[in-house]
Amino acid sequence: MTQECEDLGTLQDQVLIFGGPYSNLAATRAIRAEARRLDIPPQRVICTGDLVAYCADASATTELIRDWGIPMVMGNCEESLAADASDCGCGFEEGSNCSLLSVQWYRYASAQLSATQKQWMGSLPRSLQFRLGGKSFRVVHGSVSRINEFIFASSDELHCDAELQRSNTDVVIGGHCGLPFGRTLTSGYWLNSGVIGMPANDSSRDGWYLLLTPQEHGIQARWQRLSYDAEASAHAMQAAGLDSPYATALLSGLWPSTDILPAQEKDQSGIAIDAATLNFCIGAN
Ligand SMILES: [Fe+2]
Repeated sequence: MTQECEDLGTLQDQVLIFGGPYSNLAATRAIRAEARRLDIPPQRVICTGDLVAYCADASATTELIRDWGIPMVMGNCEESLAADASDCGCGFEEGSNCSLLSVQWYRYASAQLSATQKQWMGSLPRSLQFRLGGKSFRVVHGSVSRINEFIFASSDELHCDAELQRSNTDVVIGGHCGLPFGRTLTSGYWLNSGVIGMPANDSSRDGWYLLLTPQEHGIQARWQRLSYDAEASAHAMQAAGLDSPYATALLSGLWPSTDILPAQEKDQSGIAIDAATLNFCIGAN
């Protein structure tokens, strides 16, 4: 049965957060290797959901995450697959490019997953909470009140602050939109780790993840690129008959459609993201 919010308690050291494995097995193997390299145990690695989507290895990626045993929130893709819904529940406008492109991978993923895997997806919590460095955090997939709401760096500030207040925490960490960012709001902070299974529409093949490191004063939020074998994932898609624009996107670093992007994010299409412009310190004052 679905839990609304799972409490991870107080975490004592560096936390690694990532989102959107999207059935990309090579990227998921790479983030697990990265956590091992950084000596971060599974209890301090968190996934913001959408384990299964565009790429070829829905079942193997699911098993890799289950075997790893990390905390994870339910994404709209897990919610839809667990319910055997007719589409991914991303909230794309009917007839839009994103909506049309999602039909193929959703059908493919749904056929590949076992009833046991779908049941496990349905048992995932809708949010997680933890404390780190004296601050409280809430991890969600979309917004606090809606699993498939797109919250971007440019989303309305008053709305984001109201959603943050709804969480009763200092920091919300969201997923779903696919782009890394951090925002300071009136009531606290809103972070998105970015995703590992698709590029960030910045002409690079890299995915993104987030490291939270408690320091003497505040918590350092540091976004990192994740390099992995994107060609292997693109070839796996082609071999599976998923020869979609998303396979091309893995190699070009550009999304096949920017329908969901607000004007500000659309203007950044193809421009390399500089991690130094994202990084900041939470609660240093
Ligand atoms: Fe999502």
